[in-house]
Amino acid sequence: GPCGACAVQIDGARVLACLTLVAQVEGRTVTTIEGLAREGEMHPVQAAFLEQDAFQCGYCTPGQIMSAVACIREGHAGSDEEIREYMAGNLCRCGAYPHIVAAVRQAALEAAS
Ligand code: FES
Repeated sequence: GPCGACAVQIDGARVLACLTLVAQVEGRTVTTIEGLAREGEMHPVQAAFLEQDAFQCGYCTPGQIMSAVACIREGHAGSDEEIREYMAGNLCRCGAYPHIVAAVRQAALEAAS
């Protein structure tokens, strides 16, 4: 549970899949990174990660994006400090944090406009 790479959303809330039993999600909506795109269009957070070059090896990226979507939806993207605090459970071995914060900031600004 410490790295956040397996973050998914259950009924829209961020959850770590590695700490979640299948029995806990019966009848609930589970969204993974593969479920974010709509009709062939990337989710705005996915697009922001690409535009901001917010990854290197990509190992952490699905979890980062799933957490970022929840971060924005839950209203925790008002400042870089708030984004860093909410996203603290998602580790990046490559140290892409400045670009990840920039991507979340960009997607949050786009969502607000
Ligand atoms: S991009 Fe490599 S671990 Fe985050």
